[in-house]
Amino acid sequence: MDSIRLTKLTKASGCAAKIGPKVLSEVLSGLPSFSDPALLVGLDTSDDAAVYQLSDELAVVETLDFFPPMVDDPFLFGKIAAANALSDVYAMGGEPKFALNIVGFPSTIPPSVLQEILSGGAEKVREAGAVLAGGHSITNDDPLYGLAVTGLVDPRKVRTNAGAKPGDVLILTKQLGVGIINTAVKAEMASETERNEAALVMSTLNALAKRVMDDFTVHACTDITGFSLMGHSFEMAKGSGVTLELRLSGIQFLSGAYDYARMGLVPGGAYRNRDFVGDAFDAGNLEEVYLDLLFDPQTSGGLLFSIPEGECDAALSALQRSGLKTAVSVVGRVLPKEEKHILVVR
Ligand code: CO
Ligand code: CO
Ligand code: CO
Repeated sequence: MDSIRLTKLTKASGCAAKIGPKVLSEVLSGLPSFSDPALLVGLDTSDDAAVYQLSDELAVVETLDFFPPMVDDPFLFGKIAAANALSDVYAMGGEPKFALNIVGFPSTIPPSVLQEILSGGAEKVREAGAVLAGGHSITNDDPLYGLAVTGLVDPRKVRTNAGAKPGDVLILTKQLGVGIINTAVKAEMASETERNEAALVMSTLNALAKRVMDDFTVHACTDITGFSLMGHSFEMAKGSGVTLELRLSGIQFLSGAYDYARMGLVPGGAYRNRDFVGDAFDAGNLEEVYLDLLFDPQTSGGLLFSIPEGECDAALSALQRSGLKTAVSVVGRVLPKEEKHILVVR
């Protein structure tokens, strides 16, 4: 049973398996649009989760995420998939309350492997303070796992990606490069230390970062996942009608990510992300390898907060003192809308 390698069973892994943002927005634009005054956040703003208001003080946050394995260890895969699904509730400023499992599993693999996956997921749901309430499973050639998560939020405190204001600073709560490291793992090139650091980043809940930021003014928030720092920043910039300036020197990468990117171990999703942002960014004469790193699709990445500059130092030290095990840093700032939605500077 130890010989089963989950990542060998599927072509794309983790959030890199997402349908590209460009194709997706074309498909979605052909659908009928719904309107309901209680639907505070729906399809049209490319946000992390839907928010539906129940009363003046209460709204439901609803999200659904699943993907094929990006690691071989089934328990770890379960933890990562659950942390990733729960994250969209945190990105909206909510707290998860209950979750349902979504499972696709090949009949050729022992059920004990599936049990491990579900145990990993259950551990994260418990850590989030939520409960597992059911699920649905089908037989499928590619293993798939994830959650539908229901959370609650105060409708006055919803954190969409549309509120970033010129003068804000941008804080990111996890280091980047997960897609590149996972590609290096598939090529059997990543060291154990590099694998472990990536595993820690992917399996860390965004709960703590979200709760620390409850004490501060958050103008906008999103989590950095399959569309990469560039793609999600682009969505925030468009949604907020601003330009985001990303500063390379403030961005932290997983160890090994730069070297593997130089070797060309870049997942295909990075190119789809670049296609999506198109000519909406200006990176001056920045070397290509940095663009590969910035467009790298993340699995269960960190939260990107847009907050007033005056609160930046206090927020940064609160996050760093919180016990969070991932790298927190200021990655840029918000400017009034310029010709380009994203500027990348050194
Ligand atoms: Co998200
Ligand atoms: Co999502
Ligand atoms: Co948000």
